[in-house]
Amino acid sequence: MARNQFASKFGTMAAIAGSAVGLGNIWRFPYVAGNNGGAAFLIIYTVICLLISVPVMLSEFVIGRKGQSNTYRSFIKANGKKAWGIIGGVEIYAGLAILAFYCVVAGWSLEYIFAAVTGEFASIGGGDAAELINARIAAMGQRFDIFVGQGGAHILSIPRPVVWTIIFLGLNCVVLAFGVSKGIERCSKFMIPALFLILLILAIMSVRLDGFSEGAAFLLKPNWDAVTGQTIIFALGQSFFSLSLGMGAMTTYGSYIQKDQSLVGVAFIVVLATILMAILAGLAIFPATFTFGVEVTSGPGLVFKTLPALFASLPGGPWVGVVVSSLFFILLFFAAVTSSFSLLEAGTAYVTEEWTFGGRKQLSRPMALTILFVLVGALAVLCAFSQMEGTSLVIMGDSLFDFIDKLTSNIILPIGGIAACILVGWRMEDKIVFNELTSEGQFNGAIVRFFMFLAKWVCPIVIFYMFIKGLI
Ligand code: PHE
Repeated sequence: MARNQFASKFGTMAAIAGSAVGLGNIWRFPYVAGNNGGAAFLIIYTVICLLISVPVMLSEFVIGRKGQSNTYRSFIKANGKKAWGIIGGVEIYAGLAILAFYCVVAGWSLEYIFAAVTGEFASIGGGDAAELINARIAAMGQRFDIFVGQGGAHILSIPRPVVWTIIFLGLNCVVLAFGVSKGIERCSKFMIPALFLILLILAIMSVRLDGFSEGAAFLLKPNWDAVTGQTIIFALGQSFFSLSLGMGAMTTYGSYIQKDQSLVGVAFIVVLATILMAILAGLAIFPATFTFGVEVTSGPGLVFKTLPALFASLPGGPWVGVVVSSLFFILLFFAAVTSSFSLLEAGTAYVTEEWTFGGRKQLSRPMALTILFVLVGALAVLCAFSQMEGTSLVIMGDSLFDFIDKLTSNIILPIGGIAACILVGWRMEDKIVFNELTSEGQFNGAIVRFFMFLAKWVCPIVIFYMFIKGLI
């Protein structure tokens, strides 16, 4: 049976950019950028993306496309040694763990799409008074807390977050069952341009708000005083998570890229698109926070508590709130789902290619997805429950949800990144890597040599240094 492949060059880029652009870009990047020097951060971030993350991404692509296999097998094939497979395997499982908590948050976005479309965040006017805004934020905060179970009210009834989590995971499984090209690629080709368009519309709508110039300045005015050593660690961590590195996602997607497509080209376009979308997200969000004079935050608090209150306070009639909030939560859903595809696909490729049952050679995709649905679903449900009041799902002082987040982002991601660079830079033959990166000489060799140098000498050292710094 021929191996799966992306069918078109645009589809390849949409799927890979889809993996990259996710919750990290929408709710974390703008906040981190704003608080770490605005344009100064953007410049540092872009340089780090190009000099550190692109070589790592290329290394993962090379391992995948050369190996023509799942992350575990491709890591072994790159070097011929079974021990490397362990790192590939850990990446896959870590990716599935990330997927579990990603499903919970994405599930929240489904709840909020529903609420937005049914008019829960319709503008009710009077949005100029500070007390009113604060009261609305408090009310929206309460709504969210009760919804996720912090109010303790519905622990014994069927908790909606759990239902949405399962629906979201099920949706992923159905799309992936259609296959790499007919499922993932087809959805991404529609969702990524739609996501871009929605961001653009929201950013443009922000222009007419009073706080636009202040919000834009927060994100775009360079403030070099805010840049510290910590900033660079933030930038690297954000860039890795945002570009889906170290989780088996890019290695797996790399194995689906057609042989005559330029890996360097894909990496560049994906990185630039990811940065652009993150900036647009900031332009869509911050002008509203500055208009209403509320504190800028990030994460679930921003997206599910503050923003709904601001949507409900937008000027221009009730429909404005309905349209803007609906668009925003649909955007959040698209961003999340195209990212979760890549996490689930890393697992699916692994299970179909490595697990055998009853002497059958390979598991079919639907079969593999059913198994993953049960395994990931169980963990996801635990994650959803760990958010609720009165549950004791706490590991080392963090809820299960936060624990998975920290373990994967701070430890597994950097180790995976270093491993990919060492494999490609030191364990694979230079000629093989060069041929893969230039598609047998079709593309510019000088750029490729430059990136190979970075992957060999610069990335492992820089990432290792930051990794240690981040831990202590
Ligand atoms: N890049 C995604 C985001 O920014 C998250 C992700 C991480 C997806 C790792 C796949 C692998 O939200």
